[in-house]
Amino acid sequence: MPSDTPLVIVTRTLPEVVETRMRELFDAELNIDDKPMSQAQLIEAVKRADVLVPTVTDRIDRSVLSQAGDQLKLIANFGTGVDNIDLETARNRGIIVTNTPGVLTEDTADMTMALILAVPRRLTEAAMFLKSPDANWQGWSPTWMLGHRITGKRLGIVGMGRIGQAVARRAKPFGLQIHYHNRRRVSDQVENELEATYWESLDQMLARMDIISVNCPHTPATYHLLSARRLKLLKPTAYVVNTARGEVIDENALARMVEGNEIAGAGLDVFEHEPAVNPKLLKSDRVVVLPHTGSATLEGRVDMGEKVIINIKTFFDGHSPPDRVYPAML
Ligand code: 8YV
Repeated sequence: MPSDTPLVIVTRTLPEVVETRMRELFDAELNIDDKPMSQAQLIEAVKRADVLVPTVTDRIDRSVLSQAGDQLKLIANFGTGVDNIDLETARNRGIIVTNTPGVLTEDTADMTMALILAVPRRLTEAAMFLKSPDANWQGWSPTWMLGHRITGKRLGIVGMGRIGQAVARRAKPFGLQIHYHNRRRVSDQVENELEATYWESLDQMLARMDIISVNCPHTPATYHLLSARRLKLLKPTAYVVNTARGEVIDENALARMVEGNEIAGAGLDVFEHEPAVNPKLLKSDRVVVLPHTGSATLEGRVDMGEKVIINIKTFFDGHSPPDRVYPAML
């Protein structure tokens, strides 16, 4: 490698095609074992790297960034959410941050729709039944394993960005009525296309919905947006789906409500303290839990890697990387 080739340290194993291209273009230090790095290892990495490529499992906080060497110019996050990175500190130290927006929208919206369908149709229970060694299926019965219909129900989307809109586009043909809360109202064109109703008041929307889908990023402003108080506003027949970030919901409060039958259930792909999951949620057969696999398609992960490479390459070619994230954007 020529000495001006940037040292790019990647914190987790990425799809092979992405790693191969990184090796061709950069002085790439890869994580062959895919073992998450400790804070001490992250500090060692930022002392040497020109570019760090972290993921959601790496906490790039002030204590890591304050020990970064002057050569660290770019953090090219492998992921759209950047809540794992202290953006203010990065900016103050002149480190540019990029992410991978757009390429995981459809996959995440697909998984959100799957959860919207799975919770009322008791899919975990039904899908596991025949596989269980104790299963003794007596055949079809008119009153056995009944769930609830989703057609005609009201879906309230919290966060009407790319993913929220992609969820709405899928939900509408299923007969769901689309409602949303967002910092800004979306364009008339999008509202008309989705026949979506805008709620300025999140509280008022929550009280009237049958299904809530969380699709906003985790920022200081959205931390526990679905607080214990707000969760109590939900109808006891309503359920919550979250494919965004666990921190947006007060997970303990949600778990208590599930346990106390104050809510119909939940479909969760993300958790407040990953990889830990509240045991009350695991125990309930009205909760469908996935291990943060919303964007987990090979195609999606390759596209994310491609975005990371383009961001790094563009930056070292002397241009502004296309997916630069500014703290004020959040
Ligand atoms: C990724 C995600 O798998 O991109 C995001 O924000 O939540 C995911 O689907 C993960 O964050 C990669 O870092």
